[in-house]
Amino acid sequence: MKEKKISWWALFKWAFVDNNDNSYTSEEKSRFYDRLAKQYFHRDRLAKFISDYTDNIFSNKDIKICERAGGSGIITKILYNNGYKNIRVSDLSESQLIVLKEKLTDIEIVVEDFNQIMSEVKDNSFDLIFQTGATRFMTKEGQITYIKEAARTLKDGGLLYWPVMWVEVPLALLKKGFKSPKTLSISIRKLLKKENLKVIDKSILIHGKLGLLTTTFLIIQKGNHQNIKPSSPLPSFQFLKAIQ
Ligand SMILES: C[S@@+](CC[C@H](N)C(=O)[O-])C[C@H]1O[C@@H](n2cnc3c(N)ncnc32)[C@H](O)[C@@H]1O
Repeated sequence: MKEKKISWWALFKWAFVDNNDNSYTSEEKSRFYDRLAKQYFHRDRLAKFISDYTDNIFSNKDIKICERAGGSGIITKILYNNGYKNIRVSDLSESQLIVLKEKLTDIEIVVEDFNQIMSEVKDNSFDLIFQTGATRFMTKEGQITYIKEAARTLKDGGLLYWPVMWVEVPLALLKKGFKSPKTLSISIRKLLKKENLKVIDKSILIHGKLGLLTTTFLIIQKGNHQNIKPSSPLPSFQFLKAIQ
């Protein structure tokens, strides 16, 4: 059944009233976010980019993926439907994970704060780690922990995807002021370098109307490998299309 289109009015009301209104349960808010993220934030376009990029890099679908702050599972589901079944996904919000569990039942789902270490995860476990749209929810210290955890839990040669959404710059400043995590790709790169994680590729993705949703998509690798893609000093631009 086709999902009902959310009106612009409902979008503004959600942003300024409903999302801060305690009469809505967190599950209701998560369900609304799920529809909003597909219809207005075009996360499905980003998900397709992630899935296609992963197809181009990895030769098999058995790779172990770790998605953090996975929310209602928009990205997770597209990867899963494309054959990537070996996914560990986590989020801090149980209500987001309720929505995710309805879509995907046979993957590992964990309630977890991504500002903290993944104490039960062994070193060198994952081929790929990523989060989308959640940089602004990192604390300053948590962002360093997130990067150190990626360096620890990625296999040698494994990849970290970091979609740096431009809209997160003002959102982080509004939310956290001078306590904001780094939200510019140049600053995030510096943090990554300290942990010997190297940006090997980058694209600038435009996935919303009038370029309002623009993301610098960083591909980062653990270890000294040149076998994936030659790094280019200039990012490629891509206009992401709606998924049919
Ligand atoms: C904008 S949503 C993005 C969700 C999903 N990645 C997507 O692209 O649709 C941000 C997500 O970050 C989660 N989140 C916020 N703070 C977090 C934290 N400290 N640890 C883990 N997840 C967190 C929220 O619950 C929410 O699901």
